[in-house]
Amino acid sequence: MSQHVSDSAEWQALQGLAEKFSTVHLRDLFDSDPQRGERYATDLAGLYVDYSKNLVTDEVLTALTALAQRAKLSEKITAMFSGEHINITEDRAVLHTALRLPRDAALVVDGQDVVADVHEVLDKMGAFADKVRSGEWKGHTGEHIKTIVNIGIGGSDLGPVMAYEALKDFTQRDIEARFVSNIDPTDLFEKTHDLDPATTLFIVVSKTFTTQETLTNAQEARSWLLEGLGGDAAAVAKHFVAVSTNASKVADFGIDTANMFGFWDWVGGRYSLPSAVGLSVMIAIGKDRFAEMLAGYHAVDEHFRSTPIERNIPALLGLINVWYDTFLGAQSHAVLPYAQYLHRFAAYLQQLTMESNGKSTRLSGEPVSYQTGEVFWGEPGTNGQHAFYQLVHQGTKLIPADFIGFSKPNHDIGEMHDLLMSNFLAQTGALAFGRTLEQVKAEGTDPKVAPHRVMQGNHPTTTILAESLTPGTFGQLVALYEHITFTQGVIWEINSFDQWGVELGKVMANQLAPKLTSRETPADDADSSTNSLIKRYRAQRGR
Ligand code: F6P
Repeated sequence: MSQHVSDSAEWQALQGLAEKFSTVHLRDLFDSDPQRGERYATDLAGLYVDYSKNLVTDEVLTALTALAQRAKLSEKITAMFSGEHINITEDRAVLHTALRLPRDAALVVDGQDVVADVHEVLDKMGAFADKVRSGEWKGHTGEHIKTIVNIGIGGSDLGPVMAYEALKDFTQRDIEARFVSNIDPTDLFEKTHDLDPATTLFIVVSKTFTTQETLTNAQEARSWLLEGLGGDAAAVAKHFVAVSTNASKVADFGIDTANMFGFWDWVGGRYSLPSAVGLSVMIAIGKDRFAEMLAGYHAVDEHFRSTPIERNIPALLGLINVWYDTFLGAQSHAVLPYAQYLHRFAAYLQQLTMESNGKSTRLSGEPVSYQTGEVFWGEPGTNGQHAFYQLVHQGTKLIPADFIGFSKPNHDIGEMHDLLMSNFLAQTGALAFGRTLEQVKAEGTDPKVAPHRVMQGNHPTTTILAESLTPGTFGQLVALYEHITFTQGVIWEINSFDQWGVELGKVMANQLAPKLTSRETPADDADSSTNSLIKRYRAQRGR
């Protein structure tokens, strides 16, 4: 048995603190320290991060920092940034931070000048994006492109669609981007039925170029295009480009590798938005805005790489998440952007956090003996306020929540933004401090109803406030969550960079597909539930 972080005195100290914490209330923490709101808040590049409304004290933060030292968090940050093969199950470096290094930076990994490689692809993307945006890139019939359709799934979809929506205000509005991911044929139908093939450009995005959903959608999109353009296969070169690490599979598919934008096996799918995977976003916002986004990422990378743990914001927020999940028993974490443009942010974070930290085997191969990865979820405020906030306010669960807001709106209409942000501020106050029975009674409430109107408070939140939602602050926000996720994985001693758990389902789907499509009656050799479901499906499908 190896010595684990969870066997350490630092871990036990936190378990002891957690036991004492059942009697601590945020009301008391704020009453006893009038400066708490300033002490537990800091600027991180363009983000103001206020973590004062979390269930932590100086003692807890010191204990969490000690735990990070025990887990060698600083050393592991250095290992990631320098390109060590920390993804041990796939023997790969984890270098998404290199995607946002400036042109004059230096990083050689496994004998390769990574910065030169990254900027070569960025330049190629930039030249292509310029051509599409200016209309210089013409389709098969000589028309310019009006719609880009990104075909990809998981990291090859969630990042681009989330970023496109987030940065819509910066897009060239005469070119629309759409995103097809699901193998459900309705997705492809709905995204293409009203398009003109002559003005449509497909970007097929797949790191492996073997993913069933993406290749099937791409194949069907190809047929749709050729049908619409008279069947000349030469049209494909003008209407299909690829983003992948796998040139030979791209060529097999029939896309000219001259129209392929590459990346590398050291970029995980869920970390790939700032690579060529973001091509649709670059076409939408232009290469200069894309560069601003990368600079935003890089500012937070530099903070994470070089700041001591006790002042390192992604590290502290990751440690606080561990405190909730592992020591206080939280099961989920809400992310609540008070910005409609961030309406896909929670969906994106679900892959980032849950595919990264939904693990129960340590790096050593032994099982974990504690809670890991929490369920991330959320919706933009104020919509969530009229849906699930009731449970967060008065339910029985511990649900830490992140509130993300901006001081300046992208579109100022009347006083709408001030009303939005007054909700933003009110919610974290109500969650933290609640309303006691005495306060409710003092308002003259019917005594029978009074207990129902009590708000217990003590619900933890972190507030992230930026001046405005720009490509730069957007990049900072995404990098912040990437590094929070990394920190949690280090403490839990898991590999945040593989995803073996998604493989079995893929294999089984491939085995089952012939039973659904075959004209012959298939053998009853699955489990009894699946056998019956297959029979019903085939009957209803007329097979
Ligand atoms: O769902 C598993 C996964 O491998 C993700 O990690 C990845 O982002 C997604 O599939 C898509 O993979 P690819 O980019 O290779 O098509």
